[in-house]
Amino acid sequence: MSCVDAKTMVKGTDFEKKHTPVIHCSDVVKAGEIFEVKIQTAGVEHPMEDGHFIQFIELKVGDVPLMRVDLTQYAKPEVVVYIRAPSEDHKGQVMKLTAYMYCNLHGIWKYEKEVKIE
Ligand SMILES: [Fe+2]
Repeated sequence: MSCVDAKTMVKGTDFEKKHTPVIHCSDVVKAGEIFEVKIQTAGVEHPMEDGHFIQFIELKVGDVPLMRVDLTQYAKPEVVVYIRAPSEDHKGQVMKLTAYMYCNLHGIWKYEKEVKIE
């Protein structure tokens, strides 16, 4: 499995909506500030049952891994994490967040969001 092959929302089908890990957070954050990032499926719940469930959720900034949560069929495929925005040296820049979600039957999915640092 490679993140390079990750699928994402293209047509907006229910199948895509229950696998795409949408990132909810501010569009603009202050340098050095700790802010909330929520990752959940795009409006359609993914099944969490024996034999078909989301196995992990990951978050990266650029190519740097920030966190990974392993799940079982007994969990809800949704996480809230608090991360620190880059320092003052990065004011005016944009950081790219990428979330990955892995379904044991339907593979790896991703979603990207750009956040401005002010
Ligand atoms: Fe699935």
